[in-house]
Order: sequence, then C-alpha cells, then structure tokens
Amino acid sequence: MFRFLLLLQLLLPLSCFALVSEGRPGIRYYNHPLFLDVKKIDNGQISQIRLAYGDTRDNTPDCLNSIDVFLGLEHFAPAPVKSWVLVDYELQSILINQGFFGDADVFNVRACGELNTCVELQKRLENDPVELAKRQEHVNPTKLKKARFTEIDKELDIGRRLVKAARCRGCHQLEGFGAEHAPGLTWKRYKYVEGRLEEYLRNPYRLRPAIDDLMMLQYTSVNARPNLQEVELVAMARFLERVAKAKTPDFRYRKEAWQDYDCFACHTSNYKNKPLRFVPTVVPTKLQTELENNPILQTCLSCHSFGDYRQQQPSGRNNPNRFAPDLLLTMERLDLEYLINFVQHPGYLQPGSQMPTIPLDESAQQQLRQFVIELRKQIEAGDVKPIYNFYRMKKISE
Ligand code: HEC
Ligand code: HEC
Ligand code: HEC
Repeated sequence: MFRFLLLLQLLLPLSCFALVSEGRPGIRYYNHPLFLDVKKIDNGQISQIRLAYGDTRDNTPDCLNSIDVFLGLEHFAPAPVKSWVLVDYELQSILINQGFFGDADVFNVRACGELNTCVELQKRLENDPVELAKRQEHVNPTKLKKARFTEIDKELDIGRRLVKAARCRGCHQLEGFGAEHAPGLTWKRYKYVEGRLEEYLRNPYRLRPAIDDLMMLQYTSVNARPNLQEVELVAMARFLERVAKAKTPDFRYRKEAWQDYDCFACHTSNYKNKPLRFVPTVVPTKLQTELENNPILQTCLSCHSFGDYRQQQPSGRNNPNRFAPDLLLTMERLDLEYLINFVQHPGYLQPGSQMPTIPLDESAQQQLRQFVIELRKQIEAGDVKPIYNFYRMKKISE
C-alpha cells in the first residue's frame, strides 16, 4: 500500500483510521465514501461543508480525520447532514497533526445515506464504463510521479532552516507563529503567477502604500546576514509554495525564539531615516472611466489603492486596512483564481487575514475576472506601466 497510508496508520489511533485516500494535494480522487459531518446554510446558500473519514455519530472525539470543502459546496444540496456520501474531489492541502485534515474542491457528490450503500455503489462504479470514461477526461493520477513523503519532508526541512536562518519571523507570521509587523506568509493555496514569488524575494518592492514604517528587505543584498544565494532563494520560494499545499507543522521549529528577533524596532528606525515614498502607477483615462463605472471595484477601492486613481494614505498601525495592497499590482502578480476566491474566503485562504468576506455571485465573479484579464493585456501591451518602488539600504563596507 502507498506510504502515506502507513504513515497515517502510525500517527492515528486505529479506531480513527478509515478509507483515507493516497492523500496528495493536486490529485483528483474518485468515489470516496465520506461522512457529511457539517453542513451550514446561510441565506439559503450552503456556507460550510466538512467531511469526515468516519462516522462522527459514534462519539469518537479524538478522531480528527476530516476535510473542509472549499469549492463545489452546491453539490451537497440534496445530501442530508450526518449521512454518508460518495464524493469526487481534488485534494488541495493536508495537515498532519494529531489527525489528518485538509481542504478540497468537490466536483461530484452522490448521497447514499448509509455506509454499506456507499460501498456497494463505489464497487459498482469501479466497473462502470461511463464512470471510467469520465475519469479518463482528467489526468490519470497513477501516471504522475509519486512524491515520496521522505523527499517532501526533506524539502520542507531545508525551507524551514532557511526561513529560520533568515529570521523572516521577525516580521511575518508563518505556519501559525511569528511577529505580525508584515502580512502573513501562510496561504492555504499557492497564490502567485508562476515565478513572481522568486522575483519578489530577489527584488522586493512596495505593494502596500499604507505601510509607512517598514519595508520588505532585500535578502540578496550584501548587507543581509545571511545574504541569500540564488539557489537558496528559489528553495525558499518552493518551501513557501509547499507550505501552502501541504502543511506538516514540525513542533521542533516552534521553539524558534522569534520573539527575540528585534528586526522591527531597528528597521523601523532605519526606515524613518530613509523613507521610501510610494510612487503610484499612472492609470490612463480610459481605465479610470472603467473603474468609475464598475460598482464591484468601487467597493474594493474603499479599502484598496489602485495606482494613482485611488491611493490610500499611510496610516497608523491600528488601521485594519494597513496590509491592503495596491490592487493594480496585486492583479498583476496573483493567480487569477486565487484572487477571485480570496475575495470570498479571505480568512480561509490566509489565516488571520484582515480583509472581510465579500460575497460575489457568478456574474460579479465573471466581471472581476474579465477586468483582471483586460488589465493584464493592457500591461502587456505597454498601455499601463506598473511602477515598482524598490527600497535600497545604503551599502556598508565589508
Ligand atoms: C524587517 C521586516 C521583514 C522581514 C525580516 C521580512 N519581511 Fe517580508 N515583508 C515585510 C513587509 C513590511 C512586507 C510588505 C511590503 C509591502 O507590501 O509593501 C513584506 C512582504 C513580503 C512578501 C510579499 C507578500 C505579498 O504581498 O505577496 C513576501 C513573499 C515576503 N515578505 C517574504 C519574506 C521572507 C521569505 C522573509 C525571510 C527571508 C521575509 N519576508 C522577511 C517585512 C519583512
Ligand atoms: C541594530 C539594528 C538592526 C537590527 C536589530 C536588525 N537590523 Fe537588519 N539591518 C540594519 C542595518 C543598519 C542594515 C543596512 C545596513 C546599512 O544601511 O548600513 C540592515 C540590513 C538588513 C538587510 C539587507 C537589506 C538591504 O536592502 O540591504 C536585511 C535582509 C536585514 N537587515 C534583515 C534583518 C532581520 C531579519 C533582522 C531581525 C532578525 C534585522 N535585520 C535586525 C540594522 C538592523
Ligand atoms: C473593508 C476593506 C476591504 C475591502 C472592501 C476589500 N478589501 Fe481586499 N483586502 C483588505 C485588506 C485589509 C487586505 C490585507 C489582508 C491581510 O493581509 O491581512 C486585503 C487583501 C486583498 C487581497 C490579497 C492580496 C495578497 O497579496 O495576498 C486581494 C486579492 C484582495 N484584497 C482583493 C480585493 C477585491 C478584489 C476587493 C473588491 C471585490 C476587495 N479586496 C475589497 C481590505 C479590503
């Protein structure tokens, strides 16, 4: 059997262990009998679904095996809570702690009431030509390279050591601990357009006009201790990506005494002596008119900047919108679906996020998506020229 199952078996009380999938993020799983543990409905719409790997009615409180459904909640409409369902899903993240949990996008659900009905149906579907043909439309997971958990573990370990050596937690929270002087770095999905994270770490620039006391530092600079080499920088970016997809918190690292990292106090005073004025991107008249006539974006711009069309002013540390980035720069660098989903589930995608949930219906989502696509075209054509505000400290002699 696949390694992961063995791993889980070691970690979990046996009573808990049931029907766990191969458990790798990004792979689709079909016909898994799961228990519909939580189904919340707000304003006539399903707002939360939690699936368990066992029947939670039999009061096994130490049984933590579950997944939260992120996309595809509507498929659960006909299924009653506290019943068994047969589910097709794509696993997005996993967390192995005292149990197993993660989150998934669901694309098909069959209500079956009891476990034995589900298992019978599962067996029947395994040989059903229509069902098999449907699966063929997707990537066949067995053809993908299977990651070994020891390898993943090694990568995570290298990343964690780099983060520790670079003392990122002096300003950022990551995997649940660290200072909160800068936006959190724990994302439940990987959020950037390919390559953009490395690019940012290599050459950080200001994204948030309302932060006026601190700046992300250039770790490739000769002033940085340690100053990161290209391979280390890429390894760090891959680590952050990995953390977004598969979290295995390692309690050894919790002992890291980030509270002693006094980066903030010193670097804020450095910054005071050499502040960096935020120079906003010029928004052409045509685009301004579009923004003017777009009620969704007008809502966003009550908190966010958008180039020189709307610029939030630097504000105190207590301003809840302090971490709100310039939306123009955000739209340029974030994965489009991450961006759309973020608006609707900010606290879920970025634990501790200061942005409130803004529900968007299908047509509003489509409008926002279209706006971003058009904006990217204008950037590519050179009609909109994003301005990056780099912060450079003065060189110290070696
Ligand atoms: C001295 C404080 C400080 C330290 C130390 C620090 N950062 Fe930052 N970082 C910031 C600030 C402030 C921002 C926000 C800048 C902005 O948006 O204008 C930021 C932004 C970022 C972003 C961009 C987030 C986004 O909006 O997409 C990433 C990624 C990041 N930091 C990673 C790191 C990593 C990795 C380390 C360790 C190698 C690190 N930071 C260390 C202060 C810091
Ligand atoms: C005693 C004050 C002080 C403390 C504390 C401090 N720094 Fe610095 N740091 C500096 C100064 C000063 C420079 C730049 C050298 C110069 O401009 O002369 C610098 C430069 C850097 C740079 C390179 C940035 C660039 O653009 O060259 C990085 C990265 C950095 N510090 C990270 C950190 C981290 C992470 C911490 C917390 C663990 C930290 N620093 C704590 C004073 C401090
Ligand atoms: C009430 C204020 C408010 C409104 C309205 C708002 N946002 Fe935000 N938004 C924030 C804040 C604050 C953050 C920073 C979250 C954090 O890091 O804690 C944020 C973060 C984001 C991010 C994440 C950026 C990143 O790099 O991680 C995206 C994307 C975003 N907002 C898009 C939007 C869009 C699109 C709208 C309009 C539909 C919108 N926001 C409306 C306050 C707001």
